[in-house]
Amino acid sequence: MKPLLVAYVRAALVYLVLGTATGVILAIPAGKAWLESLGGRPGLAHAHLNLVGFMSFLIFGISYHILPRFSGRDVYSWPLVRVQFWVANVGVVGMAAAFLDGAWAGLLPWAAGVLFIAFAIFAYNLWASVRPLGR
Ligand code: HEM
Ligand code: HEM
Repeated sequence: MKPLLVAYVRAALVYLVLGTATGVILAIPAGKAWLESLGGRPGLAHAHLNLVGFMSFLIFGISYHILPRFSGRDVYSWPLVRVQFWVANVGVVGMAAAFLDGAWAGLLPWAAGVLFIAFAIFAYNLWASVRPLGR
């Protein structure tokens, strides 16, 4: 596996630990009260750390590793895989922060837009990488 794709898998595992830790804190009444005292929506920070940070990053890394092999060609653009990695990290950390702390809520539209760009890059790059499958 390419080091860049290992970085996706490792990032996914870091987000898994952060996401589940937030879940445990939310499961403890005093912890939930503390997170809610920040004035944000901590349940949504927890959900996106797990669903985007962990699950989507794992899907990104594994998809780029496996799916192009099925069509007998390389990933369409490795530079885009690298750009997507950083854009997605900025987006998911920004979204988690914006959901977690009311003072950062104004960040949400920006982080959401950044995260969307990462998903759009993924869709474009993977689409182009598996194209021969549809023939
Ligand atoms: C140690 C593991 C986990 C614990 C202890 C945990 C705990 C919780 C708790 C306590 C809530 C309610 C939050 C609230 O009161 O607002 C919650 C919500 C949620 N969790 Fe987890 N969770 C865990 C792992 C996961 C994972 C792995 C995923 C996804 C892959 C996930 C997805 C969600 C979602 C989507 C919600 C609903 C969020 C919302 O709509 O506000 N959780 N979890
Ligand atoms: C560009 C990517 C994404 C953005 C910008 C985004 C944004 C949001 C926002 C703003 C909310 C809160 C909606 C509200 O005000 O109630 C939300 C809720 C949620 N999102 Fe995302 N999201 C993204 C990707 C995802 C993905 C990939 C998943 C799952 C794999 C997901 C699962 C959820 C869930 C489960 C909720 C909670 C729904 C509820 O309980 O009402 N999101 N998302």
